[in-house]
Amino acid sequence: MTRKKIVAGNWKMNTTITDGTALAQAVTDGVTPIKTTVIMCTPATHLHTVSEIVKEKSNIHTGAQNCYPAEKGAYTGELSVSMIEAVGAEYIVIGHSERRTYFDESGDFLAKKVDITLAGGLTPIYCCGEALDIREAGTHVKYVGNQLKAELFHLSAEDFGKVIVAYEPIWAIGTGVTASPAQAQEMHAELRQLIANQYGEEVANGTSILYGGSVKPANATELFSCPDVDGGLVGGASLKAELFVPIIEAMEAL
Ligand code: 13P
Repeated sequence: MTRKKIVAGNWKMNTTITDGTALAQAVTDGVTPIKTTVIMCTPATHLHTVSEIVKEKSNIHTGAQNCYPAEKGAYTGELSVSMIEAVGAEYIVIGHSERRTYFDESGDFLAKKVDITLAGGLTPIYCCGEALDIREAGTHVKYVGNQLKAELFHLSAEDFGKVIVAYEPIWAIGTGVTASPAQAQEMHAELRQLIANQYGEEVANGTSILYGGSVKPANATELFSCPDVDGGLVGGASLKAELFVPIIEAMEAL
């Protein structure tokens, strides 16, 4: 089974609707991806507008950056999967290290978000990754593997097959330090093996595993060339069309 090549942008808490609309339009005008699925994960306030813009291009989509694991109700300030779906978004980022760290999101809570996203027919972009001290201790493969086991491996093979995994080493996020292609490849291959052990080769070979952490035009080609790196989850460089478009083009050129 061939897996999807994906370049996703995580805008985080950046842009107002005015600059966000201009950015989404510039990306949509700037590239017509043929074999790459492009996803712009915008602030929730922009999803409806940006979803309308990206309709122009069949391979460009939108995603939310979070959801709450209940269908509806008294959860002031939160967004449900059906609200996100109704404004045209098809993906939801779950388990980003910023949410784990700043909002104390636990593995159990993230597993519930994955479940409700799948139940609502949307695609989770599930993030995992280790902090620097764990990498330095040499236990990173075990640590990230345990995140997957605890937060995803309760899924059926059919549901797991719908999840996009994003490996984002925390020490590489927003720091300008990128994992080397060898470091990314090592982790991605280990994760794919773990998925194969749990769900079989077919599911493992069909799972897109993205790398995130200081992806930029200058390093996109070497990272995306790794056999088990199926694309990127891009933060800072997704905020400028002149950086994000070349990253998409790097994937298209492979
Ligand atoms: P940077 O690309 O800014 O390092 O961010 C990566 C990230 O956290 C994407 O979710």
